Amino acid sequence: MSHSPVKRFDIRPVREQDRSQIDVVIAAAFNGTDEVALVRELVADNDVVLELVAEAEDTIIGHILFSRLWIEQDHDCFAAVALAPLAVLPAHQRAGIGHALIEEAHQLLVQQGEGLSIVLGEPAYYGRFGYNVADAAQLESPYPAQYLQLKYLTEGKPCAIIQGKLIYASAFGEG
Ligand SMILES: CC(C)(COP(=O)(O)OP(=O)(O)OC[C@H]1O[C@@H](n2cnc3c(N)ncnc32)[C@H](O)[C@@H]1OP(=O)(O)O)[C@@H](O)C(=O)NCCC(=O)NCCS
Repeated sequence: MSHSPVKRFDIRPVREQDRSQIDVVIAAAFNGTDEVALVRELVADNDVVLELVAEAEDTIIGHILFSRLWIEQDHDCFAAVALAPLAVLPAHQRAGIGHALIEEAHQLLVQQGEGLSIVLGEPAYYGRFGYNVADAAQLESPYPAQYLQLKYLTEGKPCAIIQGKLIYASAFGEG
């Protein structure tokens, strides 16, 4: 059934009763349930840093999740966040919902004191939000480097490129 995209939607934090609707959105967006299981596991493991939904007319149409990610440097570790997954119901894609979820989440992450976000995805999409492949070039990751991107959430960049090994939440497995 075709469905015209909604013009008005709200972005808000996830409530426990949203879970089954979130599963539907993610399964439809990814055409499978791997990411549904990923989200369920991240939540169960308490590895979620921020999770938001987009809602229109009491229906969830988009979802975004940031989980804890550690960057291991020499004998030290510092905290970052990993954006994954991001999903918008197919009937509502290309209406700015993904954009709104990312922008709102970035603002909230800054308020929560987060400084660094990493994403694995299409640079053509995530580049619009300040994610950059070159800034992630010195990171050791289990995933393909051409899709790995880093964003400094606060103003300004450090004087040296961030180096270190990425340690994802255990729900991601070994990559
Ligand atoms: C990726 C996704 C979240 C974008 O959400 P959305 O609400 O449709 O995005 P927006 O409306 O904010 O932006 C749409 C723009 O992004 C572009 N875009 C969407 N997916 C893209 C991709 N994989 N690569 C490049 N550009 C992409 C569209 O072409 C469109 O471009 P335009 O503005 O020049 O027309 C959505 O398409 C989706 O759920 N896809 C399936 C799941 C997925 O791949 N998630 C991301 C990986 S975790």
